[in-house]
Amino acid sequence: MSSIQSYITSNKQRFIDELIELLKIPSISADSAYKKETIQTAEVIKTNLKKAGCDRVEICETEGFPIVYGEKIIDPKLPTVLVYGHYDVQPPDPLDLWHSPPFEPVIKNTDLHPEGAIFARGACDDKGQMYMHVKALEYMTSQGDLPCNVKFMIEGEEEVGSVNLSHFVKANREKLENNVILISDTGMIAKDVPSITTGLRGLSYVEVEVTGPNRDLHSGLYGGAVANPINVLTKMIASLHDENNHITIPGFYDKVENLSDAERAEMAKAPFSLEAYKKSLDIDAVYGEEGYTTNERNSIRPTLDVNGIWGGYTGEGAKTVIASKAYAKISMRLVPNQDWQEITQLFKTHFEKIAPAGVRVKVSPHHGGQGYVTPIDSIGYKAASKAYEKTFGKTPIPQRSGGSIPIVSLFEQELKSKTILMGFGLDSDAIHSPNEHFGIWNYLKGIETIPYFYKYFTELKQ
Ligand code: BES
Ligand code: MN
Ligand code: MN
Repeated sequence: MSSIQSYITSNKQRFIDELIELLKIPSISADSAYKKETIQTAEVIKTNLKKAGCDRVEICETEGFPIVYGEKIIDPKLPTVLVYGHYDVQPPDPLDLWHSPPFEPVIKNTDLHPEGAIFARGACDDKGQMYMHVKALEYMTSQGDLPCNVKFMIEGEEEVGSVNLSHFVKANREKLENNVILISDTGMIAKDVPSITTGLRGLSYVEVEVTGPNRDLHSGLYGGAVANPINVLTKMIASLHDENNHITIPGFYDKVENLSDAERAEMAKAPFSLEAYKKSLDIDAVYGEEGYTTNERNSIRPTLDVNGIWGGYTGEGAKTVIASKAYAKISMRLVPNQDWQEITQLFKTHFEKIAPAGVRVKVSPHHGGQGYVTPIDSIGYKAASKAYEKTFGKTPIPQRSGGSIPIVSLFEQELKSKTILMGFGLDSDAIHSPNEHFGIWNYLKGIETIPYFYKYFTELKQ
């Protein structure tokens, strides 16, 4: 047994207990009712980083939630790994769909996790995955096995767009200087199919408001004679895709990078079962852009989705009413080369243009960010690949993900370093959904694999 394996075996229960303590704190960045708890989470992480062996730890205040910074510099001549993660979580609602309360972590076995999985909001995204790095650091410092310098930057606003982190990064380039950025906030294909995320999609998130008459109207007295904002909004939204599920916004695809047939063929080699995919979601067919496979649709192609839509009467029973206003929240997932601000503008112009007479339309941009792709011939990628080979006994598959971590492209721009995305979650972990969980096997495998990344990165760098 390797030294990291025996360290994990002796400390496994404590590693789980510490994560459970962290998961009990409802650090919901989107909900101001949880401000105190979110700030408290930063304090707990600071304490844990210190205990794990950081020499210097600090809470860096921002206009929003604080950033926890920690470092252990063993020799300025050695390479430096910058670890990024987030301690904030998504709101847990709808609460009634959880089998156990989201902030009262419990361990249960599932088909995919016979060794048990921790069920709690943030278990996988990202407290569990972030904390693997803290425990890997503890192992390396306590066993004299840390081969290079390390910096930690753990933020509390990832789920709301990382706006303050971007200011912090721009203002602290020197402090954050590094040779590679390491993040565990993505997933892998399966427990026996390790993969490294090589791409993230960009994002443009907007809210739209359609206003018709100046007040809610009787749907009998006025119905048919004035524009109904909900009818209009749904029609406008429906027109954003054509019959082939292409997005109809003029200019939307102009900068989309088209992959070569060879690259697409390479992508198609990743193991994937359409039948299992449909079964896991209880759907009888997949749906998406004509001409692309499911894995292409959710990674290399841009998309537009309504995330929420409301207006009018939704209470019990029937109320005959034409609402004055209708609303929707819309996200567009973008691919490399598409500029999120430009896309937001294209959306705004188009949406305002297609509004019929009789309504007024307001488009309010929320947040966004650029997509990211990382090369597979970098030292960082090679080190990560060797680390997985060591602990999984298999070469990991490079795979682009459909999710977004908008700050990653800003890291490259401001800090001039590549990010390596070593994710240990599974698609079935239900991140952002009720009953989010993280497999204990995955948690411990992450802790086991990370120190090898440090080792191989330092060796390859010299
Ligand atoms: N960790 C996720 C992103 C992710 C998950 C990427 C799985 C790849 C695989 C992150 O916390 C997240 O949820 N990002 C948001 C964007 C953010 C600006 C709210 C997203 O992708 O919706
Ligand atoms: Mn995350
Ligand atoms: Mn998330």
